[in-house]
Amino acid sequence: MLLGLGTGSTANFFLSFLAEAVRQGELKIDAVSSSLQTAARAKELGIRICEPRRGVRVDLTIDGADEIAPDLSLIKGAGGALLREKILARASRHFVVIADSSKRVARLGRRRVPLEVTPFATPWVMDEVAELGGNPVWRMDKLKPDRPCLTDQQNYLVDCDFGLIADPRGLATRLKEISGVVEHGLFLGLAHAALIAEGKEIVVLRPLKPPAPLGQSDLVLD
Ligand code: A5P
Repeated sequence: MLLGLGTGSTANFFLSFLAEAVRQGELKIDAVSSSLQTAARAKELGIRICEPRRGVRVDLTIDGADEIAPDLSLIKGAGGALLREKILARASRHFVVIADSSKRVARLGRRRVPLEVTPFATPWVMDEVAELGGNPVWRMDKLKPDRPCLTDQQNYLVDCDFGLIADPRGLATRLKEISGVVEHGLFLGLAHAALIAEGKEIVVLRPLKPPAPLGQSDLVLD
């Protein structure tokens, strides 16, 4: 199968288990990566990375998230890979989120919503976000704090705090209308399931269904 690989610490754990299963001959996969960082690690672990091709969809993408609401709407992008992550999620027949229970929220908005922004437009994007009440902060590089953080596409990141978001879909539409916003970190209507580690248990969340332990859920990815 063709597997989409996410980015972040949780996705990294998954990558280690995946590589082991591939090494043992239990799985035969090719993969598309959501970031240069994940691609490099996957290659080191012996997983073959492919580029997107016309007419080829990804069978399944597995990725982490920063926040997961009960309807499986998500905030993603704390690690800066939101653009390729969203492209992969949309190009996938199934998109499954993996996370620990700290990521579950009743409503999105405790964490900031990241925007990937064209560098030239950044000051004006920040003005527009401020008008929307998003308290924008330009993300700086962790290792060189006097320089902006650059995405894999050489764009900038702006982190926005809208408080608890009453209407994620309305906000997503508004953010997309701002010239210079390449992508935002609201992932709405994309996740088919979330596997949540609650202590030692894995709970499966599906949109509009009550949570179920892994063995008792209807999670079938055909
Ligand atoms: C990467 O840009 C993000 O979207 C990650 O998927 C998200 O931040 C979750 O990362 P952790 O698993 O490291 O919390």
